[in-house]
Amino acid sequence: MTRTPVNVTVTGAAGQIGYALLFRIASGHLLGADVPVNLRLLEIPQGLKAAEGTAMELDDCAFPLLRNITITADPAEGFNGANVALLVGARPRTAGMERGDLLAANGGIFGPQGKAINDNAADDIKVLVVGNPANTNALIAQRNAPDVPAERFTAMTRLDHNRAIAQLAKKAGVTVNDIKKLTIWGNHSATQYPDIFHAEVAGKNAAELIADQNWLEGDFIPTVAKRGAAIIDARGASSAASAANAAIDHVHTWVNGTAEGDWTSMGIVSDGSYGVPAGIISSFPVTTKDGKFEIVQGLEISDFSRARIDASVAELVEERDAVAELGLI
Ligand code: NAD
Ligand code: LMR
Repeated sequence: MTRTPVNVTVTGAAGQIGYALLFRIASGHLLGADVPVNLRLLEIPQGLKAAEGTAMELDDCAFPLLRNITITADPAEGFNGANVALLVGARPRTAGMERGDLLAANGGIFGPQGKAINDNAADDIKVLVVGNPANTNALIAQRNAPDVPAERFTAMTRLDHNRAIAQLAKKAGVTVNDIKKLTIWGNHSATQYPDIFHAEVAGKNAAELIADQNWLEGDFIPTVAKRGAAIIDARGASSAASAANAAIDHVHTWVNGTAEGDWTSMGIVSDGSYGVPAGIISSFPVTTKDGKFEIVQGLEISDFSRARIDASVAELVEERDAVAELGLI
């Protein structure tokens, strides 16, 4: 059977995450080994030449699933008919830049891109924002796309989720396959809260099994929350292959569903669950099925967890208020 190709738009396609991402999309890891794809590479004018080089390499792989590649600096063309959009390109923080400056610079990117998605994307568009500050950039894009259902805009905390699984597996002396039901709450920033109180290690409650508060507070939580900074320090550049891998995981899980007895973490528009103010884009535990997700309900939240979720959510509220003040949402 010949399937209709899925249009996948990648912004920041010439950057380091783009380079790690595009070959895996084209080889079927994003959507499945039987799903052909058209790639739309959206860059700024200065990035077009490098994107053309990447496109030449994509051609040279002769990927059976890759139908065509469009390279453009025009958001209307880049998002035309897009079914999946990975918003990776963002304005990085540079020396002397305050948080407000960073939010304003990114508003100048994610506002117009949200509008271009609103006006040009396919009706079933799914958006993942990777570019930082990812949650608030996703909020800006979502608010500029009033005709697209809000739940189609998501922000990436899957990298944090995967990092937390790896750290927990190491501590427990098991493989990552034995870890289930881990949750990242809040913002993709150092305030995020990786929660092991509902997680399972080979079917046993992780927090009870590990029973080591010093490790939890002094090692696990800060290691996961500050991992991005540790990688920048070690590599001299932010995580790229692991970020691209997490983007692949995020969309693959969204489209194909979570495994029975497990869940994942996604930054999504809050419906007010767990006391997270409705409307902000915060990370929650979610299950996915048939291209839709649902927040896992009814988890008991201890005082320890509550304080950490609240702190990260407070940061998101501050970011929302700052971009509202700048007129970006
Ligand atoms: P990079 O600087 O290597 O590449 C960014 C690319 O985006 C560049 O090619 C640039 O030309 C392009 N770009 C800038 N503005 C654009 C626009 N308006 N439209 C289209 N393209 C645009 O950066 P990178 O290492 O690929 O990282 C990209 C972003 O992802 C950064 O914001 C980084 O902080 C973020 N990140 C997020 C996570 C996460 O877990 N959410 C993890 C790692 C990195
Ligand atoms: C990461 O978590 O690796 C990145 O978000 C870090 C960064 O600031 O780019």
